[in-house]
Amino acid sequence: MVLSVLCQLPLPLLLTCLWGVEARPNQLHKRDPSYDVLAGANFPDPCIINVGGTSYVFGTVDGSGHNVPLVSNSDFSNAGGWSAITDAFPGADVPAMGDGGWAAQMTTWAPDVNQLTDYDDSFAMYYAAALQSNSGIHCIGLARSESVSGPYNDSSTSPMICPESDGGAIDPAGFLDDNNSRYIVYKIDGPAVTNGGYCNSPDNPPSTNTSLMLQQLENDGYTAIGGPVVLYNNQGVSDSYNVEAPAIVKGSDGTYFLFFSSGCTSANSYTTNYVTSTSGIWGPYGDRKVLLQTGSYGEYGPGGADITPSGGQMVYHSLEVSDDISYPRVLDTASITLNGQTASVS
Ligand SMILES: *[C@@H]1O[C@H](CO)[C@@H](O)[C@H](O)[C@H]1NC(C)=O
Ligand SMILES: *[C@@H]1O[C@H](CO)[C@@H](O)[C@H](O)[C@H]1NC(C)=O
Ligand SMILES: *[C@@H]1O[C@H](CO)[C@@H](O)[C@H](O)[C@H]1NC(C)=O
Repeated sequence: MVLSVLCQLPLPLLLTCLWGVEARPNQLHKRDPSYDVLAGANFPDPCIINVGGTSYVFGTVDGSGHNVPLVSNSDFSNAGGWSAITDAFPGADVPAMGDGGWAAQMTTWAPDVNQLTDYDDSFAMYYAAALQSNSGIHCIGLARSESVSGPYNDSSTSPMICPESDGGAIDPAGFLDDNNSRYIVYKIDGPAVTNGGYCNSPDNPPSTNTSLMLQQLENDGYTAIGGPVVLYNNQGVSDSYNVEAPAIVKGSDGTYFLFFSSGCTSANSYTTNYVTSTSGIWGPYGDRKVLLQTGSYGEYGPGGADITPSGGQMVYHSLEVSDDISYPRVLDTASITLNGQTASVS
């Protein structure tokens, strides 16, 4: 054993030796189910879609030249089977991101890809990007492609959803119900207009709404039907005044699950939760439960989860290093079971 050789030292030095081993952030943690399947790549806020038996996972702009990083795997359960990262939405020659458009290049957060099986079988990517006119605010756009892997394009000259004075809108996710009604859920990003909110200034915390909104859409995936409704808001200081990354899935008995992350995106307080509704998609949603938190499987700040439409597969990210977002947020995968009003991970 390497340790026993290295640590045959007098007691004080032995303690230093052992402490030194323990202080290395990634050494002593058991991390399952499938932790960091992309070998250290930064891949936050993933979404998953399965097409033709292959899983496609998209993420937030990664700092390595991919506006919307994409990986795929023909066997989701094979943690070593993920492809190299490509860019599904490079942004060049995209009207929304050019002169006269609205979205800044290389600012895309938390995309969500949906196949419009109820419309024309094309692929709709909801994404949030910083406004060209106001870089502190992100709003939601819709990019389309005939192929799941892109390249996606958005010819709009204004965002799809943009409550700019409330902080903008981020973390979109589509949902198609059994009866072919289509929806989008998203977060009103209050902290963007309150100095970053509690997470940026815990000593002088602005209390901020981070409402998770539900909007019904036509089957084109774009046109609104009626207005948005608040499904859930943060519960104050216990959530660091922040909930985000909503995603809706439906259990086999008709229960709607609203998954979301709470706490500070950059810190160990980031937690994956869910609430359920047995009285329809509009709620009320209650019976809040924690799915994953720091310490679950030895992970730090697990969040940004997305789940296949009726459960089964989940992708999420966790901090590679405890409480330190200057290191990557790595891609994790898991199996998830929905049973009644309970979700469980394995
Ligand atoms: C995106 O669509 C516009 C037309 O709206 C077209 O001019 C442009 O070439 C397209 N870009 C890509 C990357 O396909
Ligand atoms: C599907 O069901 C929901 C909830 O009952 C309802 O609001 C919606 O109008 C239905 N959609 C269609 C296309 O019938
Ligand atoms: C938060 O939302 C509630 C309910 O919609 C509203 O009454 C309140 O003014 C909001 N607070 C802030 C700080 O925006």
